Amino acid sequence: MENDKAYLWSHKDLLDVTQLSLPDVTHILDLAASFELVNQRPVKKVPTLKGKSIVLFFAENSTRTKTSFDVAGKRLSADTFSLAKSGSSISKGESLQDTVWTLQAMNPDVIVIRHSSSGAAQFIAERLQCGVVNGGDGWHAHPTQALLDCFTLRRAWQGQFAGKTLLIAGDIAHSRVARSNVHLLTKLGVNVRICAPRTLLPAGRQTWPVEYFDTLRDAVKGVDAVMCLRLQLERMLDGLLPDLAEYSRRFCLTPELLSLANSQAPVLHPGPINRGMEIAAAVADGAQSRILDQVAAGVATRMAVLYLLAQRKDGGNK
Ligand code: CP
Repeated sequence: MENDKAYLWSHKDLLDVTQLSLPDVTHILDLAASFELVNQRPVKKVPTLKGKSIVLFFAENSTRTKTSFDVAGKRLSADTFSLAKSGSSISKGESLQDTVWTLQAMNPDVIVIRHSSSGAAQFIAERLQCGVVNGGDGWHAHPTQALLDCFTLRRAWQGQFAGKTLLIAGDIAHSRVARSNVHLLTKLGVNVRICAPRTLLPAGRQTWPVEYFDTLRDAVKGVDAVMCLRLQLERMLDGLLPDLAEYSRRFCLTPELLSLANSQAPVLHPGPINRGMEIAAAVADGAQSRILDQVAAGVATRMAVLYLLAQRKDGGNK
């Protein structure tokens, strides 16, 4: 890859976007763009990671992240292996530490982990020699989601981030996607607005570099992109939302509300989506929706991340 010659990737792991410099981000996005071309070929495979082993350890459910890491690894010719919570010895009481030491003994090059506990990815990265990618840990971080969102917005905004305004609307409190995107996009100069009921705002949000709105109608006016987030009812304590119908009346992005944004403003959603709750079906399926583009970007972006981490072990990426 031509853009690798002048660049040295210095990270063993990808745990959070906060560890990335601007050159790191640009390099990942440029590399993802080159892998996107591979994904558009009739034969979607290159020998780049032939002989490398990638473990997908998903202790929490996933459709997009797990599948796209699997596809990404296979398109780079790596061998990929999956371990889920159900069907593994975790269900017999094996600890996270013993599980990952067992995986390490098989000498993988990269482990991708998703876990319901914030900090799980860092916990294993500190104990393993191989590269670790955080595929989402609790409410904490989802770095590859933020990178693929960035990739999608870079295309929609024709490479321009500074001065653009993004609205993130929905269940911010429980969202690792919101946290990672706020960090990454504000670093790139994007103005970020958040909109949610007060009960779904994160603790410490006063320290976030964002503007808060409590009505979607005000929040969406004049923005350059909207990202909707689902209600994470599985992580929610009782009593945060008295009435789901009332929530959807106030916080569902409808075509009428979207018309208040700048024309052509792309609509993103990390998925899974709940049609009619946080996003109307007509918006999810509409001309401004970039939801499936995000999925495609996920494969290319994860190819870039796997490439950088797996090659590093050989002293690559120079
Ligand atoms: N966006 C995302 O993480 O989706 P999955 O839970 O399906 O992986």
